[in-house]
Amino acid sequence: MVTSSHNAETPTTMDRRMFLFQTGTIITATMLAQCGIAADTKSNDSMRRPHPDQFPTPALKAIALGINAPNPHNTQAWKFRIVSDTELLMYVDETRILPATDPPARQIHIGCGCFLSVMTAGISQHGYAAACTLLPEGEYSLAQTGKVPVAHIRLIPLSGSVDPLARQIYNRRTNRLAYTDAELPTSTFNAMVQLANPQHCSIKLIAGDPLAEHLNILYNGMEVESGTYATHEESRVWFRENDEKIAQHRDGINLPAGGTTGLRKFVAERLLKGLHADDWHKPATVNQHLTSYVKKVKSARAVVQFITPANTQADWIKAGMDYARFQLAATASDYYLHPMSQVLQEYPEMNTLRVQYEKLSGITEDQKIQMAVRIGKAKEPFYSYRRDVNTLLLP
Ligand SMILES: Cc1cc2nc3c(=O)[nH]c(=O)nc-3n(C[C@H](O)[C@H](O)[C@H](O)COP(=O)(O)O)c2cc1C
Repeated sequence: MVTSSHNAETPTTMDRRMFLFQTGTIITATMLAQCGIAADTKSNDSMRRPHPDQFPTPALKAIALGINAPNPHNTQAWKFRIVSDTELLMYVDETRILPATDPPARQIHIGCGCFLSVMTAGISQHGYAAACTLLPEGEYSLAQTGKVPVAHIRLIPLSGSVDPLARQIYNRRTNRLAYTDAELPTSTFNAMVQLANPQHCSIKLIAGDPLAEHLNILYNGMEVESGTYATHEESRVWFRENDEKIAQHRDGINLPAGGTTGLRKFVAERLLKGLHADDWHKPATVNQHLTSYVKKVKSARAVVQFITPANTQADWIKAGMDYARFQLAATASDYYLHPMSQVLQEYPEMNTLRVQYEKLSGITEDQKIQMAVRIGKAKEPFYSYRRDVNTLLLP
């Protein structure tokens, strides 16, 4: 389990503070306690994810394992056709893609690649190796998304050893909190890369002098996304406004996952109640989000990029495979990751900044930075939900 060593703003200091509602009402932690509101809500983690032991066949167990993978906005844009107890096809769920922030569905396919790696590592603990054929019917257009498979998966008896990364599947989390000032030694980074054993991406560490400029542009990407109506609106659609909605939908993004917990969460939930577009897009709300985001971004001591030699659909899936393995390897060393994908995205408002970032990163015209993530140590973050396996199966 990843350990926590530092918290930029501890709940205790936060609890002592008073919060000013926009209405001008002053509310204290004591008053909240009297209303029966806990500073933090933590429900049973095991209720949040399907467990492989609940399922009778290797194919269903494989799905239960793979869905623990990181994936954009936790939309879990995947669905499966069971061919036999040991054979299945994976498709993108085209109703869960992100057309505004991810027009080519590149990141959605990265998420599918993440699924494949996590599933492959996990199923090795159950005595199977996963033979994955990517894009078995070839690459497909955006219009064919969901109709043509991303991967064909065949589970065969394991002849080698269990993947050591499997142990990290339920420890792995995206961490959007402020990171401590612990550096990432190059030797530790190299060991993570070795353990991840990337098959396709070059994984590049950015630390020291060049870091500040990278963090600036990565943050600027969030400014552009939040200031562009369609892309910021997409976040509203996938936002789950309180614990009840989070547990009901079992997907999407939310306040605690973004690092807003305790009293801040209590206040923010009331300000965003009903998730009305007017409240969401109001400059004051956007500014509050950016002010909190920039502090977390700037706390990073290192960024890691995942770069592919080209930018085809297969590159996207393979980048996800490498990313998920690297994240499992980082988890094994008690390091967290936080993707900051905004500047890499392919909608017109982001074009100038994206080109600027690619130039800063020195990549060639053919290459693509598929992921840029900050890496570091932090306190333990929110544990995200996953949907039930049965809802992911095609008839
Ligand atoms: C391709 C890809 C892009 C992502 N981009 C972002 C991002 O820009 N910001 C962010 O906070 N999380 C990002 N994430 C992380 C997901 O939001 C996260 O995996 C998901 O919410 C599930 O949470 P978990 O990783 O803790 O299980 C990304 C993940 C993937 C696979």
